[in-house]
Amino acid sequence: PVAIPGVLGALLTQSGCANPSISVVDPTGPVGRAQLNLIYLATGIMTLVTVVVAVIYIYVVFRFRERPGQTHIPEQVEGSKKLEILWTVIPIVLLVILAVPTITTTLNIDRKPAPDDAIRINVVGYQYWWGFEYPGAGVTTANEVHIPTGQKVKFIMKAHDVIHAFWVPSLGGKQDLSPGKNTRLILQADKPGVYEGKCTELCGAGHALMNFRVIAHPPDEFDAWIRSRKKPDSRGKSVMAREGQKLVAQNCIGCHAIRNAGYRVLGKKGPDLTAFSERTRIAGVIDNNDKNLTAWLKNPHAVKPGNRMPAFDHLSDKQIRAIVRYLRELKGSS
Ligand code: CUA
Repeated sequence: PVAIPGVLGALLTQSGCANPSISVVDPTGPVGRAQLNLIYLATGIMTLVTVVVAVIYIYVVFRFRERPGQTHIPEQVEGSKKLEILWTVIPIVLLVILAVPTITTTLNIDRKPAPDDAIRINVVGYQYWWGFEYPGAGVTTANEVHIPTGQKVKFIMKAHDVIHAFWVPSLGGKQDLSPGKNTRLILQADKPGVYEGKCTELCGAGHALMNFRVIAHPPDEFDAWIRSRKKPDSRGKSVMAREGQKLVAQNCIGCHAIRNAGYRVLGKKGPDLTAFSERTRIAGVIDNNDKNLTAWLKNPHAVKPGNRMPAFDHLSDKQIRAIVRYLRELKGSS
């Protein structure tokens, strides 16, 4: 177990995670930094123990090996109070050195009240997507959450169905989301960027793909984003998009909300699709483009196994194209 954090660190920086926005060893916020310090401390102590034990072991193996011509069994030593006290006290001291900062950091992240100017964002975990709501502004989004930089953001979380967990490696985590109980995590992004998030509690078939993104903007850009989402542009513009809007009203709004689309918001079972074209990914998994959206509508389960969206394979290719056109026109106001 000793070498695991080091190996993990190496994997996170070198393997599939070439994108620096998902690295715990390159944090961009105070929580991520505090957690990285704990990782360094634990790795340091474990490395020290491994090295000391290995050196003593190798020394003993060589120093007390059987020599040529040796005929008798060496003197057997049993019991040494001094040694036993020593190797009981050393681990206790090491565990205390590990425990004190771990407990203080954890309590600090967990209990410290949010500053008054912290932005509150409600997070709901669903199998297998993320709902984000800005209660002050009346704005809702899914799978991508926008935040201002340099400001504390208070995420208040709960789960809709089973336990999920919220983790943004570069910013910090992890925080469980439970049904019927609010949990919270206060994060801050120091610089603008896209930070990958993951569900880290095994929650079903789609767990591994229950991804989200935190998109951090400078405060004025963030304010502009919120304003553009308050009055989204949700009317189909081209003939084809208007046809798509009708099809969406017939097929999708039982589960998906689209604000300002000219009908009452019905469903909240699926992700909010307001300003959908501005999302970088579909379902948090594949790039948001016409081709991927078509594939998603025809067979969502091929993209994200176990998700609750039915396949719309009863629609003709032309109807799917119209829906794609409409969804890909959905924007915030300019
Ligand atoms: Cu949600 Cu794993």
